[in-house]
Amino acid sequence: MGGFAESVCVPETALAPMPAGMTYEEAAALPQAGAIALQGIQDRGQVQPGQKVLINGAGGRSGMYAIQLAKLNGAGVTGVDNAERLGFMRSLGADHVIDYTRDDFTSNGRTYHLILDLAAHRPASACKGSLMPGGRYLYAGGPVATLLQVVLIGPVIGRAGQEDPAPGRPARCAAPGAHRRALPGGKARHGHRPPLPAE
Ligand SMILES: NC(=O)c1ccc[n+]([C@@H]2O[C@H](COP(=O)([O-])OP(=O)(O)OC[C@H]3O[C@@H](n4cnc5c(N)ncnc54)[C@H](OP(=O)(O)O)[C@@H]3O)[C@@H](O)[C@H]2O)c1
Repeated sequence: MGGFAESVCVPETALAPMPAGMTYEEAAALPQAGAIALQGIQDRGQVQPGQKVLINGAGGRSGMYAIQLAKLNGAGVTGVDNAERLGFMRSLGADHVIDYTRDDFTSNGRTYHLILDLAAHRPASACKGSLMPGGRYLYAGGPVATLLQVVLIGPVIGRAGQEDPAPGRPARCAAPGAHRRALPGGKARHGHRPPLPAE
């Protein structure tokens, strides 16, 4: 968390300089929503120019950073949230917006390189059909039952039938081309993937 403390003692490597022109109030508001977006789009998502990214819950605290980071990385972004936030998501750069109260992105036939699920109200498996071959599904938060399922069962599924991945790489599921892995801080991911290329 960090951002709301008056003083804190941490290793220098855990810190970053504030951008010029940013106030302390603005900087204090960045963690942890900003860190979730950074992990999802860059560190774990590794979004590349030209990729298609769907952010579920994109009109919320983490989502508003995630939209902007994905656009900065050159992706085409679809934001999903309620009707009141469609304009907000567009104003942040979202190319397409979906009102989750009217449309279900998992059943419209469109596919993405990355789905970053910041609402995680449906089982991760429901998003499989919305991933391109090699696409990734990452999620943050969600119901405790889902989190427990991923933390307790995910690693077992991920190791089935193959060697452990190199550190920092996802394990793969027994299902062809799928992977699921718990991430630090209670985040997890699950998705289709062909045999891992050298990354
Ligand atoms: N921000 C943090 O510091 C923090 C820290 C730890 C963990 N997390 C976790 O990270 C996730 C994202 O956090 P956040 O702070 O960005 O949450 P947030 O500000 O509450 O944003 C979530 C957004 O998702 C929308 N949403 C709800 N149900 C949806 C659905 N079925 N489909 C699509 N969108 C839906 C919400 O809209 P409505 O208003 O319609 O519900 C809201 O705009 C959460 O699960 C949270 O628990 C956040």
